[in-house]
Amino acid sequence: MKVGIIGLGFVGLSFASVLGSKNHSTLGFDSDKKKSSQIKNGKPPFYEPHLEETLNQALRKGLEITDNIATIVKSCQIIFVTVGTPQGNDGSINLSMVKSAVEEIGKHLKYSKNKPIIVIKSTVVPGTALDVLLPILVSKSRKKPGKDFGLITNPEFLRESMAISDTVNPHAIVLGGTKDRFMNAIKKFYENLHKNTPIIATNNQTAEMIKYTNNSFLATKISFINQISNICQLIPGANVEDVARTIGLDPRIGHLFLNAGPGYGGSCLPKDVAAIINFSNSLGINPLLLNAVKQVNDYQLKHVILTIKRAIGTLKKKRITVLGLAFKPDTDDIRDSVSIKLIQSLLKQGAKIIVHDPKAIENTKNIFKEKISYAESLDDALRKSQCCVIITPWKEYSKINERHLQLMEKRIIVDTRRILNNSKLKMNYYPIGIG
Ligand code: UGA
Repeated sequence: MKVGIIGLGFVGLSFASVLGSKNHSTLGFDSDKKKSSQIKNGKPPFYEPHLEETLNQALRKGLEITDNIATIVKSCQIIFVTVGTPQGNDGSINLSMVKSAVEEIGKHLKYSKNKPIIVIKSTVVPGTALDVLLPILVSKSRKKPGKDFGLITNPEFLRESMAISDTVNPHAIVLGGTKDRFMNAIKKFYENLHKNTPIIATNNQTAEMIKYTNNSFLATKISFINQISNICQLIPGANVEDVARTIGLDPRIGHLFLNAGPGYGGSCLPKDVAAIINFSNSLGINPLLLNAVKQVNDYQLKHVILTIKRAIGTLKKKRITVLGLAFKPDTDDIRDSVSIKLIQSLLKQGAKIIVHDPKAIENTKNIFKEKISYAESLDDALRKSQCCVIITPWKEYSKINERHLQLMEKRIIVDTRRILNNSKLKMNYYPIGIG
């Protein structure tokens, strides 16, 4: 079955590249012409491990990039919609991109004999597929759902920095829709693609809810351990690492997503928690726990700043190094990154900031321009520094050694990820979560 993918961001481009590299006939489309032509030339518009080689393999094998949604609607049996659903001011999601993608599909479907399965991978709140997208498809195409086309909700669980391996080996496939031939066909497609992955077939609204439940549970785990971490930090000798490692051995808890730190960031967890809170409020349900998850996360940045102040006193005119700008290692993505918020706050308080990141410097320059200094090496970042704050746990930061510390004016390290905790370095060390 020929596959079309509309929206070539992290999800769409990873999926298109993996399918194409497996010789699957795939057509990709992105409305951003510049991005689209970069992709055509084998250059991903963002950094993601193994994406570039997978994309280039795909372009040699099954993947083609088109400038025309009509071609996709005419020729593809499955059309995936993988456009973004950014956050609005009140926490709700902005559906404009997904609506306009579906409108375009509907318009072209009107004149086509093709009977495609339209698969929504974009993250949308429960009810969106049936109450918002289906009416658009029907009114634009004048075709009948279940007869002329199918509408399936298929949330994505891939992680940035692991996008290719998660696309090759997903832990589950969720398919929401009506039990009809379109559902059977998409099930078969996934059974062929992933032989041993569980497939959960349900209705659209449950599939939409599963995605929010998944991400808000992950956020809950992080806020939980951050809360515990802040308590540990005030108990002399207590260590959140040992606490997390030990409770993680209980199979009912599990060890993943219990790394205390400066709070969760990125383009998904903050946005999805805000959206489910907003959605819950709109139903008249007070989302007490989810509000607390968000509040704990918002507080965590303040906690880091308080720790810095405890280490160096006033911030005014202090030369502070921030290590790590990306919201996590192995990506250049700085969307909703805690580092960016930290730098904004430190600047407001008069600190002089020098930053380092192996991949995310260029993106950061677009935000801060000349207001901060950008170091190309760890040496340059630490030279004459009066305090170093480790935010993103890039591997190379765990190799900080005596020579690096000698470059600093003061050997003060605030380590939000405790990556230097086992080193024997002589420094004034302020780890988050260790009392
Ligand atoms: C998240 C989910 O993990 C994916 O399953 C989901 O598909 C994706 O959102 C999405 O909805 O698109 P991602 O945003 O790539 O993936 O990043 P995560 O690995 O979840 O990390 C998010 C943030 O939590 C990062 O800032 C990370 O540093 C932080 N984190 C994570 C912790 O502070 N502690 C942990 O134990 C784990």
